[in-house]
Amino acid sequence: MAYCTEKIAPALQSCRIGSRLLCLDSVDSTSTEAKRQAALGAPEGFAILSDHQTAGRGRAGRSFHSPAGHGLYLSVLLRPSLPPADMVNLTAWTAVAVCDGIQAACGVRPRVKWTNDLVLNGKKLGGILTELALDQATGELDYLVVGIGINVSHGQSDFPEDLRPMATSLSLALGHPVDRDELAAQLLLALDRMYAQFPSGKEVYLNQYRQDCLTVGNPVKLFTPASFREAFATGIDDEFRLLVEYPDGTTEAVSTGEVSVRGMYGYV
Ligand code: BTN
Repeated sequence: MAYCTEKIAPALQSCRIGSRLLCLDSVDSTSTEAKRQAALGAPEGFAILSDHQTAGRGRAGRSFHSPAGHGLYLSVLLRPSLPPADMVNLTAWTAVAVCDGIQAACGVRPRVKWTNDLVLNGKKLGGILTELALDQATGELDYLVVGIGINVSHGQSDFPEDLRPMATSLSLALGHPVDRDELAAQLLLALDRMYAQFPSGKEVYLNQYRQDCLTVGNPVKLFTPASFREAFATGIDDEFRLLVEYPDGTTEAVSTGEVSVRGMYGYV
């Protein structure tokens, strides 16, 4: 069943995020649609929800499984007047806001696997994909699209077989149905609160990210396209980078790339 705009929009009356809200039954990807709308001049805060995605996208060129009726697929268009370099931490800020929204709607707070995976009971609940477009002529930021995918009411059999051991949904974890309209409203409210404080309220979001991030204190594998390195995650620095220590005692602040946490998603 598609979203009920009448249940979501009234909650957002004084918000910039969701000030224009498009609810679709099906689309290739809410983030691709947000980019199409951006090219047509859609305003900052424009948000798209879809019941179903036929080509949902995840990080690193992966697909994001997006069956009808079960997930929350949301993309928000931002047009900040900040240099592109100032936006590098937005995914981490968004992760905190998404945890806030889920907690407000469902009473449970997921953890974050650095940087963009939402995790509940050790399994993947969802993810965040932030994409940025530059003005070709000036090199300045044209717009950003923040895409959020959350597994809401999947049963085990609604996940493809290969994902079943490592994926969960809110209703599977909670043991009862979740109101997707309420969840959408709480997410948009939390994103609006977050964006109103970006970047001056960094201290609050950094401290919360440090509490939410489950990667720290665990053995990790850092992947490059060709290989991987084992390390131990020791902290999150003031730029939301993951601090790691290698077996030879050297340390590094990691800002990008794929990081597996031992004990999760099949890494033993
Ligand atoms: C990841 O886990 O790698 C990120 C997944 C992000 C999925 C969301 S669903 C809404 C938006 N539209 C997309 O195609 N992707 C994002």
